[in-house]
Amino acid sequence: MNILEARDITKTYVIGETGVPVIDKVSLGIPEGQFAVIQGRSGSGKTTLLTLLSGLDKPTSGTIFIKDKDITLLKEDALAPLRNEFFGFVFQSFHLVPSLTALENVMFPAELKNSSKNMKDALHRAESLLKRVDLTKRAGNYPHQLSGGEKQRVAICRALINNPRIIFADEPTGNLDSVSGEAILNLLTDIQEEYRATIVLVTHSIEVAGLADRIVTLEDGRVIEDRSPGTAEKKN
Ligand SMILES: Nc1ncnc2c1ncn2[C@@H]1O[C@H](COP(=O)(O)OP(=O)(O)OP(=O)(O)O)[C@@H](O)[C@H]1O
Ligand SMILES: [Mg+2]
Repeated sequence: MNILEARDITKTYVIGETGVPVIDKVSLGIPEGQFAVIQGRSGSGKTTLLTLLSGLDKPTSGTIFIKDKDITLLKEDALAPLRNEFFGFVFQSFHLVPSLTALENVMFPAELKNSSKNMKDALHRAESLLKRVDLTKRAGNYPHQLSGGEKQRVAICRALINNPRIIFADEPTGNLDSVSGEAILNLLTDIQEEYRATIVLVTHSIEVAGLADRIVTLEDGRVIEDRSPGTAEKKN
């Protein structure tokens, strides 16, 4: 069963008097547990697609189902808890809260979700996630005291704190050296295996894409290729 399914979605931005379709009739089903990579040139619509699939923005037309729920019909007050509980996000620009330390940023989605009795478990999990990306020593630092790559690693830990069913990640290794990038990928693939989490990840990296179960290529807001690594089936 597809945990996530987009049917014929379009996103059109109106600039001046003309509407520009940035996502153009995309249909995409993602089975539970799949590690799917989205590729494409800058401006092809990758971030926009992730924003729609994750319910952060609504498509101009089309439907998006999470299991059997059409999220395009949900109002923000119903969507927000669903996102916080089931989705983990790693944004292209990390969106850390400047007034919270690294550890507090990682804990933030857990605090939104949980009553205080679960906070001890969440704290252990936050500490263990930070350890896995080699940030134990930076747990007390505020975002302005972290490097770009460190902020990115904090953002990934934050995305994983609530054991999300689906992880959406936009270039999560873009600012990292190869060792840190590999640590992030190992963390994500471990989480995929341990919890059967589904991953939808945007990347330009051929190495990262090689680890995926599936590679979807966008061009001008359309899916021009959808394949498993190692095969080269073109979609017309
Ligand atoms: N709010 C907006 N209003 C108008 N146009 C937008 C808006 N957001 C994005 N776009 C346009 O939509 C297109 C796709 O943008 P998007 O950010 O999805 O690209 P991308 O594939 O993620 O690129 P990159 O690899 O550079 O991150 C771009 O041409 C962009 O200029
Ligand atoms: Mg982008």
